[in-house]
Amino acid sequence: MDPKEVVSQFVVNKLKEYQIIGLGTGRTVKKLIEILEKEKLIQGKYFVASSIDTELEISKRDGVVLSLFSGVKPQIYIDSFDYVTSDKIMIKGGGAALLREKMLYYFSSTKIFIGEETKLKDQKEYLVPLEVVHVGLSYVISDLKKQGYEIKIRESNGKIGPIISDNGNPILDVKVKREELCEFEKKIKFIPSVIESGIFCGKDYEIYLANEDGRVTIL
Ligand code: 5RP
Repeated sequence: MDPKEVVSQFVVNKLKEYQIIGLGTGRTVKKLIEILEKEKLIQGKYFVASSIDTELEISKRDGVVLSLFSGVKPQIYIDSFDYVTSDKIMIKGGGAALLREKMLYYFSSTKIFIGEETKLKDQKEYLVPLEVVHVGLSYVISDLKKQGYEIKIRESNGKIGPIISDNGNPILDVKVKREELCEFEKKIKFIPSVIESGIFCGKDYEIYLANEDGRVTIL
């Protein structure tokens, strides 16, 4: 069984009671949208999405997408993650949507994250995405290198140049030690031109994990 499908099917009922739903980005969210469609839960609801990709997935099913410019706060936000530690720190931004994901997470009342069990990983270091404005890229890279961090500008698949987020900015991937993640999330904001990181330390969210046998656990 596909764990993305298992976990999406598991949480879909939770969305029934909400009218304004915030949606993340990626393959898991796409699967969830397919299930929402199957369960006839797209019409009659409003969606605020963390990427143009997700907006298109909703609108091609004739769902109503509210712009982030509306400032409408979702009653619930649902998304996946790239890694989660056993103490619920998440690393997100594999799809370069970290800024809008963190916005929607922050401004939503209830927050749920879903993913396959294999994303639960306690390791020494993680590759953490940062969204940075173009003009500050060289300053940020040299500053972080001086502090001893390994950094890469994220390349776009098959195209020349860096990947560009929906906000028009490049993404850096920085190696950060596990024990430093939450401190890094705060301190990185003090470097002018860094907009956001993909580290989520809030822990004010539920995390559902699924495996191939169809088992779902709550972290
Ligand atoms: C996008 C994200 C995604 O939640 C993360 O990359 C997981 O994606 P997928 O569902 O494709 O495994 O943070 O920026």
